[in-house]
Parts: sequence; C-alpha cells; structure tokens
Amino acid sequence: MPVRRVTWRTDSRSGSVHHVRMLSRLRRTISRQLSNPSGPLGRMIAAGMNRGNRAFNAQAIEALDVQPGTRVLDLGFGGGLTFGPLLERGATVVGVDRAEDMVAAAAARHRADVGAGRIAVHAGDVLALPLEDAAVDRVLTVNTIYFWPDLAPALRELHRVLAPGGRVVIGIRDGSVMERVDPAIFTLRPPQEIAAALEEAGFTAAEVRSAADGGSHLITSVR
Ligand SMILES: C[S@@+](CC[C@H](N)C(=O)[O-])C[C@H]1O[C@@H](n2cnc3c(N)ncnc32)[C@H](O)[C@@H]1O
Repeated sequence: MPVRRVTWRTDSRSGSVHHVRMLSRLRRTISRQLSNPSGPLGRMIAAGMNRGNRAFNAQAIEALDVQPGTRVLDLGFGGGLTFGPLLERGATVVGVDRAEDMVAAAAARHRADVGAGRIAVHAGDVLALPLEDAAVDRVLTVNTIYFWPDLAPALRELHRVLAPGGRVVIGIRDGSVMERVDPAIFTLRPPQEIAAALEEAGFTAAEVRSAADGGSHLITSVR
C-alpha cells in the first residue's frame, strides 16, 4: 500500500524565524524598561532590580565610605534600593533619575524621610543635574552608565556636583554577563575605559575593583 504524504504550509524554518523575532522584541522591551522604567511593567522591573541588584549595591555603598552626615547622590536610583542602607549609616540622600515614575514612587514610599529632609528625589538627566555645584560628598551610580552614550559630559557633570575631596563609585556588570541585553540600548564598556574617562574628566586616583568571578566591577575615584 502506498504511503500517503501529508504536508503543512508553515515550515519549521519560518516558525523559528518568528520565535527569534519575538525574543528580540522582548529583549528590546526589557532593555528599554531597564534604561527608563515606566508604567506597570516598569514597576515590576524596579521590584526585580531591587532584588537582583541588592548585594552589588551593598558593595558599592561599602566602597563609598559614608559617615553620619555625608551627603550622597544616587544617580539612576531605579527602585531606590540604596536609600534604606544609606539612611541607616546616617547619610542624607539625594536621588536623581530620569524616569518620572521611579521618582514619583520613591517620593511616595519615603514620604516621611522626604518631609524630614533626609531624602530628596528629583527627575533629571545626568547631563544636566538639578543640583548646585559641590552639592554632595559622594556619588553612587550602579547599572546606569550603559545608558550614557557619551561618557565625558556625564562625568564632568558628576565632577561639578561633587565637593572637593568627594568620592564617586560607579558599578557595572561585566560585558560577559550581559549577553541578553539589546546592544542598541546598552553600551558595554570595559571598566578600565571608565577609569580613564574619569581621570580625563578631572577626577584622580581612579581604581577598578572586580568581583572574584569577573562578573561585576566597581570603579572608584576622587574629586
Ligand atoms: C538598570 S536601572 C538601575 C537602578 C539601580 N541603580 C540599581 O542598581 O538597581 C537604571 C536606572 O538609571 C536611570 N537612568 C538611565 N539613564 C539615565 C540618565 N541619563 N540620567 C538619569 N537617570 C538615568 C534609569 O531611569 C533607571 O532607573
């Protein structure tokens, strides 16, 4: 008896092309949200960042060397996971983030500390910070520098708002652990490139400290 052949119109090749397109759209949506969280998805992303980035931000805070009364700028605070630990050390916190929804959420969550002058939050961009010259003693910025296409003007702005002798700590993940992000949104740089850019912007004593597994780096420098 002859074997009957049955064929269908969607072949496996077009199915996999569809799958790849879906994944790349998802990657773009999540990368966009990480760069500027907004709406309900932005709130979910912020909650995820608060869980996933807690240990790394704790190390960055250690490297900041905060004393009671130190004025700390957290630039690109996202879900605001550093605010509690910084207050516990007696610091006052200024948070600046370009994502209006993150600023509104932090202002609501920390209403009492905002009212007491321990926390201030502002919407703003690293290229034009809503702060006076020498307004803070420390600058902390973790997982943000990927979204700054041009480092020099951003680092000059950090230099402007930092008081003489103040310290900046920049936290980044290594490119080797960021293979799922959209390269159109994330600029991944080796830590040494950031250290060199800090010195070009007027900072001194730039130093790179890396996790034992090489997956993350803290770049510190002094104004
Ligand atoms: C990936 S999240 C990191 C949040 C937090 N620092 C952490 O480690 O979980 C990046 C944050 O930086 C903010 N951001 C990105 N580019 C910025 C810019 N040019 N100026 C100010 N904020 C920026 C985004 O809005 C977002 O909230």
